[in-house]
Amino acid sequence: MYGLVNRAIQQMVSSHHGEDAWQRSTLRADLQDLDFFSTYQAYPDDVTHRLVAAATEVLGLSGEQIMQAFGEYWITYTASEGYEQLLESTGETLPEFLDQLDNLHARAAIAFPELQPPSFRCQHSADQTMELEYRSKRQGLAPMVTGLLHGLGKRFRTPLTVDQIASRDHGDAKDLFHVRLATPPDRSAEHVDPSMIQE
Ligand code: HEM
Repeated sequence: MYGLVNRAIQQMVSSHHGEDAWQRSTLRADLQDLDFFSTYQAYPDDVTHRLVAAATEVLGLSGEQIMQAFGEYWITYTASEGYEQLLESTGETLPEFLDQLDNLHARAAIAFPELQPPSFRCQHSADQTMELEYRSKRQGLAPMVTGLLHGLGKRFRTPLTVDQIASRDHGDAKDLFHVRLATPPDRSAEHVDPSMIQE
């Protein structure tokens, strides 16, 4: 994966657990000779997997916990690394945003030409719930999607719950997430139904 991903892991581990935890993780992953990750260089996926596996041992967390935390971190990290505009133009509400995830990655591919992006399909129900299907050529990253959805919930100030209801890691044909919004997505005041405003 692109260096942007490995840099985000580095930043998350060092800012949440200290520089020392990061140094120990690179040592365990046998990556101590790499001085830094270059944002726009594509690294073998194995590098990312080794880093995550090493961090689980150093931090005493499960791979699932780290990938969830990473997914959530990715939303603020990409915003701070120059992609705020891309996030902003992807949707005004969380449901809108989830419909445009493939579009977001298609636009990201301009900066990352060798991108092997995930793909998402979102089905909306009238009761503020959605089913999100996640497709990837990679295996094992579904916990990251749960974290991403929580990170997006925070970004849109839209409280939500996420349940993974089918998992390729557990033998199902696909990765499917059930997302329930606690409140209607927050649109701007002009979208408020006038009949709801009491005199
Ligand atoms: C502006 C924000 C974003 C940028 C610049 C971006 C870019 C990237 C990049 C560079 C990768 C590495 C893939 C590779 O190197 O082949 C990636 C992977 C990924 N992205 Fe995004 N992304 C953004 C936002 C999001 C959001 C909001 C989601 C929410 C669902 C998401 C879901 C994923 C997932 C799940 C992966 C792991 C790769 C896989 O599943 O195969 N990304 N993205």
